[in-house]
Amino acid sequence: MESTEDAFIVRGGKPLKGQIQLSGAKNVALKVLIAGLLFDKPVTFKNIPHIKDIDELMHLINSLGAKAEFLEPNSVLIDGQSLSQDTIDLLHASRIRVSFMFFAPLLHRFGRAKIPNPGGCRIGARPIDRHIKILQAFGVDVIYNSETGYYEAKLQGTVIKPATYTFEKSTHTGTELAIMLAALADGESVISNVALEPEIDDLIKLLNQSGATISRENDSIRIKGASKLHFSGEVFTISVDRNEAPTYASFGLTTRGDIMVKGITEQDIKYFLEAVRNIGGGVEVEADGIRFYYKGELKSSEITTTVHPGFMTDWQGPWAVLMTQANGVSTIHETIFENRFGYVSELQKLGANIEFYQPDITNQSETYQFNIENEEQLESMQQAIRITGPTKLHNGVLDVKDLRAGATILIAACSADGESVISGASIIDRGYEDIERKLQSLGAAIKRV
Ligand code: EPU
Repeated sequence: MESTEDAFIVRGGKPLKGQIQLSGAKNVALKVLIAGLLFDKPVTFKNIPHIKDIDELMHLINSLGAKAEFLEPNSVLIDGQSLSQDTIDLLHASRIRVSFMFFAPLLHRFGRAKIPNPGGCRIGARPIDRHIKILQAFGVDVIYNSETGYYEAKLQGTVIKPATYTFEKSTHTGTELAIMLAALADGESVISNVALEPEIDDLIKLLNQSGATISRENDSIRIKGASKLHFSGEVFTISVDRNEAPTYASFGLTTRGDIMVKGITEQDIKYFLEAVRNIGGGVEVEADGIRFYYKGELKSSEITTTVHPGFMTDWQGPWAVLMTQANGVSTIHETIFENRFGYVSELQKLGANIEFYQPDITNQSETYQFNIENEEQLESMQQAIRITGPTKLHNGVLDVKDLRAGATILIAACSADGESVISGASIIDRGYEDIERKLQSLGAAIKRV
């Protein structure tokens, strides 16, 4: 996938039209492939997107002695029986953020695990304190060795103990780590204030088909562990990537085009659809997908990102480009990550009228999902932007800072007049399968160099 220059060249200014099929969900695939290492037999997963994050993850699984291989373009076999290493090396961990989720299979298999501080998209400090606390709740001793940069974890007994635990603040991957640990714990666990993102439900479904008994009750999850996990089906097919839908919808609406996004349902992106309808964007819900089309002048909007079921943080970048084409002043207030506006400087290069402002917040600690360390942090935070539109965007030379910022910049380049160069194509490849092919099929003039 990677090219010499690691860049895209895009000639924009054309409405994008046609249909695309959503790929499998990145944020499901990563977790179920790791969960595959908890099983006593090989498991085959279908609808796995062939993206860079998955390649990195499979490389990591193989480096631990276990087996991860593509059988067909989107079908992956995981065989954890030959897992032989309890330590993840720094290089692999630096390439993929979910590396800390390997605590579950490594502790289950070896009773101990060493994992360095994870890498991944730089969209905030992204500490793993909530994950460490959940490990401790399951009877795991964890120390951080500041000389090596490794977390060293060890089971207190011979098996994972069940836990009753309430997260202080929501965490998506923390909830998934808790579920994986509990699925093999010796008894029943109840975890509260859990994340509600539907991606987590695929993991629950997989484990429920494999010997664990897991149910959601409001913001709690009750998990009865099994002594071993054995998948009862033939293959496990994961859900489509609902985060791809707002991205392609924004390509359609921002370029004044018309895109049918196949595979998405109204329920998957409820608040995004509501926002599109409110600004006067065209939406048509059909049996096999949703059509997004430009039907005239767009109105401004006020968006605050929230945990599920609200407007997701992953959707706000694409939305910001769309708002450069709306009439009036729009705002976006990001409450999940403290550094998710990496695209702002790039959109400004294209002529977008965007500025940061301080939202009027009385209770920061309740409003924001990230940890607030001190007053200084509060003063320097840039959590909200104001976009004044409509602005005719022009071409530019752009840098991708993180995955969703990359998609955001591509949307802007497709709607801008002239030719843009976008460096950091491989960051977009981390999470979007075949993006240039999909965009070319919609009529975009995009090439990889
Ligand atoms: N946080 C902490 N300490 C922790 C855990 C989280 O301070 O121990 C903070 C985070 O830094 C963040 C907030 O709490 O500010 C919420 O983090 P959460 O743990 O919920 O996010 P995540 O699990 O790291 C997943 C997705 C993200 C998605 C968020 C929100 C995966 C691999 N990543 O991240 O997806 O935006 O949940 O739903 O599932 C993406 O796909 O581009 C992406 C970043």
